[in-house]
Amino acid sequence: MTPSAAPAQVVIGHAPWFTEERFGMFVHWGLYSLAARHEWVRYRENMSAGEYNKYFEHFDPDLYDPREWAAAAKNAGMKYVVLTTKHHDGFALWDSALTEYKSTNTPCGQDLLTPYVEALREAGLKVGFYHSLIDWHHPDFTIDGNHADRLNPAWQELNKGRDGARYRAYLHGQVRELLSNYGQIDYLFFDFSYPDQATANPDGGSTFCGKGASDWGSVELMEMIRELQPAIIVNDRLDVPGDFVTPEQYQPAGVMVSGDKEVPWEACQTLNGSWGYDRDNLDYKSADLLIRMLIDGVSKGGNLLLNVGPTARGEIDPRAVQSLAGIGEWMRLHSKSIYGAGAAGLPAPQDGRFTRRGNRLYLHLFAWPFQYVHLPGLAGKVRYAQLLNDASEIAMMVLDPGQAAGHMTPAGQAPGTLTLKLPVQRPGVTVPVIELFLNPELNPEP
Ligand code: GLC
Repeated sequence: MTPSAAPAQVVIGHAPWFTEERFGMFVHWGLYSLAARHEWVRYRENMSAGEYNKYFEHFDPDLYDPREWAAAAKNAGMKYVVLTTKHHDGFALWDSALTEYKSTNTPCGQDLLTPYVEALREAGLKVGFYHSLIDWHHPDFTIDGNHADRLNPAWQELNKGRDGARYRAYLHGQVRELLSNYGQIDYLFFDFSYPDQATANPDGGSTFCGKGASDWGSVELMEMIRELQPAIIVNDRLDVPGDFVTPEQYQPAGVMVSGDKEVPWEACQTLNGSWGYDRDNLDYKSADLLIRMLIDGVSKGGNLLLNVGPTARGEIDPRAVQSLAGIGEWMRLHSKSIYGAGAAGLPAPQDGRFTRRGNRLYLHLFAWPFQYVHLPGLAGKVRYAQLLNDASEIAMMVLDPGQAAGHMTPAGQAPGTLTLKLPVQRPGVTVPVIELFLNPELNPEP
């Protein structure tokens, strides 16, 4: 394929910022942060609601300062932040009028969303909320295979009298609060639907049912959301179509499509496999790997939502801070290849990725070759080439495929190949990027 026309960037009609900004911060924070061993701890360890209550009684995030979160996000080059308003444990980080299970009733004593929203706005970041559809605390949420009480021998007894309609009303009511009381909210991430997930019961005799659109009242919920916040974008986990799709903890193989249409997507990724603060987990991805993941996503037309799990005192832990700083260092010099960029419509080069923004093509080199890079199909199409980190010129040549070019330059390239000659010294940045200025006449924009 030649870059004769950049593939149309798929943007969300009413919120083009999303596919422009490309990089956001996910924040998982709640009662599970005290356990410090994964946000599903109550489920994994089959804790009863009573046992889990110790975290409610001790929730006291004395170092919570969302301006620091906002600064960390901004310095990493992130443009939006998405915080768990309520996770599967059902605990609300705000002063919800619909429950007693909320931050204001813990030693913390405050609504945590008000300062969060303010801090993001102050820093010029878009405001996102995550909200769990699953709720292990609400007395009307029936126990199913994704419930922390699924192994409780009395589960059938406990399910008696639970009323899905009442839970639905509660869910809608809480979302209404979130979208009415904090000004403009730009982004909403629901989590999650499992309509077809029939799981065997521990009793061996029956199966748990899944939950989906009819349980959540998703159609009505979506209508209410659009009415309250016309500019908001909503993810795809309500079991009805959303504005973007959400691959979780994997990188898609290419652009994502629905039917034959390219769809906006965002990969959510952890730093260490856990979303909530996980003290003893040492499985940290390096900043180098995280930067490649960001580049890889943009080269396939997607976003990256990278998670941090602040401690129970409210701070982003030093390991995460360090990774974010590493990403920020790279972004400071290279964000031109990320913001507003997308898939280039070219096959990925060996050991690298292309992104394209208008008439600029960005070649990200995951390995530093000695000393030529060959780009089939690009001969005559590039006006100028430079390293992005210091704007230093990169020599270009088109070698005659018919002739051996001699002992000192590569020979036998396919016709139409552009060859770049790189310096021996790899620039001291995590992933070097070569910026190619495409010849506008030969590379019309769509
Ligand atoms: C999963 C997990 C959850 C996490 C979410 C992030 O659905 O249940 O713990 O919040 O992924 O996308």
